[in-house]
Formats: sequence, C-alpha cells, structure tokens
Amino acid sequence: MTPLPSPDALPMKPLLAALAGARGKTPPIWLMRQAGRYLPEYRALRAECASFLDFCYDARRATEATLQPVRRFGFDAAILFSDILVVPDALGASVRFEEGEGPRLKPIENAADLAALRDEPDWARLAPAFETVERVRASLPAETALIGFCGAPWTVASYMVAGRGTAEQAPARLFAYRQPELFAALIDRLIEASAAHLLRQIRAGAEAVQIFDSWAGALPPAEFERWSVAPIARVVAKVRAEAPEAPIIAFPRGAATQLGKFAGLLGVSAIGLDAATEPRAAAAALPERFVLQGNLDPLALVAGGRALDEGIDRVLSGFAGRVHIFNLGHGVLPETPLAHVERLVARVRAG
Ligand code: CP3
Repeated sequence: MTPLPSPDALPMKPLLAALAGARGKTPPIWLMRQAGRYLPEYRALRAECASFLDFCYDARRATEATLQPVRRFGFDAAILFSDILVVPDALGASVRFEEGEGPRLKPIENAADLAALRDEPDWARLAPAFETVERVRASLPAETALIGFCGAPWTVASYMVAGRGTAEQAPARLFAYRQPELFAALIDRLIEASAAHLLRQIRAGAEAVQIFDSWAGALPPAEFERWSVAPIARVVAKVRAEAPEAPIIAFPRGAATQLGKFAGLLGVSAIGLDAATEPRAAAAALPERFVLQGNLDPLALVAGGRALDEGIDRVLSGFAGRVHIFNLGHGVLPETPLAHVERLVARVRAG
C-alpha cells in the first residue's frame, strides 16, 4: 500500500514559498485592492449592501468579495475583504463611508476624545471578519494563500485625527508635533489593537499578514522613525511572540528614500514597494533576507498596451536578483479594464 503523503510533503503554496525565501520559476502574484469596483461582480454585491462597512461586516458577502478576484484571475493569494478602518470603528470612532467622498470618523482633537474611545476593540463587532477568514480558507484552491491585514498605527491614526483622508495628513502631523504624548497614547492604543486584530486573523486561518502604512511617506525622517517604523516594529514583535510562523509583509508607501530604516526590523519577511521606488535602490537598502513585493504603477495597468507590457517587464527584470512577489505599487484603480489584469497575470506567469 502506498502511504498517503504527509501534509509536510505537499508543495508549498507559491506565495508562502516566496515568503519563506524560495525562488520559483516566476514570482507569485496578487494585487492590493484586487477586490473592488473594477469588477462587475463586486459592484453587484456592493449594490446589495446599505453601506461599505455593512458589506465588510457581512461574512457571507465579504467571503464572496474575497474570492471573486481569485476565481476570475487565479491570483496566488486572496486578501481578506475588509478595511483598515474597521479597527478604529471597533474602538468607537464611528466610521462611515460617504458615497464618493471616502471615510469619515469622529475626529480626535484632545485627551477627552481619546479617553472616549474603548481601550480594546469591540471584538463582537469584528467577529464577521474572522468568520470571513474561516470561510475563505475553507473554499480557496489548494495553491492559493490567504492574506490578512491591518493598517499601520500611523496611517490609521492619521485618519482618526483628521476624521477623514487628507492630502498630506497635515492634521495628524501637526497633532504629533503639538501634543506628542497624546499622539503617542493614540499610537499605543493602535499598536495593541492592530496586533490583536492580526493575531485573531491568523488564528482564524490567515497564512500571512500585511501591514499597510499608506501614509508613511508623509513623514520627515525623524518622525518616520518614531511614528511609522517604531510602531510597526512593536506590532510585529507582538504578533511574532504569539504566531512565530506567520510571515509579515510591511508596506510603507512613499518611503523609497527611507527603506533602510526597515532593514533592522526583525520579524518582517517582506517589504511592499510603491511604484516610485527603484528596484535597485530597494535591493541595496534591504538585506537579502527581505522578500521584495511590488511595484507596477496602477496607472500602467489602467493604460494597458505598451506601457503595461514594458512596465511589467521592467518590474520583472528589476527584481530578478531577489525573491520577488509581483504586485502593484498601490491598489487597483476602479477604472482598470479587466482585460489588462488578465494580460498582466499571463505575462508575469510566462516568465
Ligand atoms: O485589497 C483588497 O482587496 C482587500 C480589501 C481592502 C480594502 N481597503 C477594501 C476597500 C484593503 C486591504 C483596504 C486597505 C485600505 N483601506 C487602505 C490601505 C491601502 C491603501 O489603499 O492605501 C486605506 C488607506 C483604506 C481606507 C479607505 N477605504 C479609503 C480611503 C477608502 C475610500 C477610497 C475608495 O477607494 O473608495 C476606502 C474604501 C474601500 N476599501 C473600498 C474597498 C473595495 C471601496 C469602497 C466601495 O466599494 O464603495
């Protein structure tokens, strides 16, 4: 009788193999914001929900939204359909998404506003996210990995202070200069909440996690170390302490010239790079142990044609000397044609 292969003998999912440092024939590929409005099946599902947050907290529909891009394009990973702002929502910041205007939150202006927040997220409110992770894990193809995520403390705090998205996150930067102790207290609350949120996703079945620091690039060097790198390091240490195996990807958008400050960050497996980052500069700033993820311009994916083909080829050759995960430099834009995404996946897999 032939013995069944032990689970250890099964081939590793390509994304997890890359995160473990193995180089395959072609890089694994997934896209930030791969679930979203560019997909007609997403728009249909979204139309059934009263609000975007209701959608995030609806485990059945969130599962479907997570699976849609994987079904259509065969990406190497699914990313939980949710949002970075569910954490402040569960802390009591009353998050709303205005149609066509983006997020709105109760702004944090003083110590009383911070004191009015919960110490710990309302886990009952976030329970549908963990149920979504479980459901997605149960229905993903065997070769597809599931990524969980959270926002980095700085990026989430920047929305909490301003009560909305702003061009350069000036309200949060001013707040941090004027009231550093209070800002540090908000960051501390978010470090705890974010690490706990990631650990719950990992326990529910997320196989890797990404920390989105979308506004890292708005910070000058000293503030970047204090409010982006140091808080991410603390989130990572907390996750690592309880889930030593789950790989962590950090995405400090806009940090091309400051990537070296992540070089000493223990416990981070991969760094996500934005489209403005030179692959060679990233490779020079970050030691070999870091897997590099990125960094096609989302607008090249909108444009298609030669711009897309040349952009893909430049990303592939730019990272050829390193373990690489193909991604965009930021999220998929709503106006992206489906055929361009199909072409992208085919070209990356053609090697
Ligand atoms: O990547 C995925 O497919 C997983 C789901 C996901 C969403 N947002 C869904 C979403 C993830 C990982 C995010 C991260 C997120 N959310 C970030 C970090 C990454 C980045 O883009 O910089 C940030 C800053 C947010 C906050 C946020 N959410 C904003 C500012 C907006 C409004 C802008 C917009 O595009 O509408 C959102 C809404 C949002 N999050 C949508 C989706 C699919 C669109 C909402 C809709 O369908 O109506």
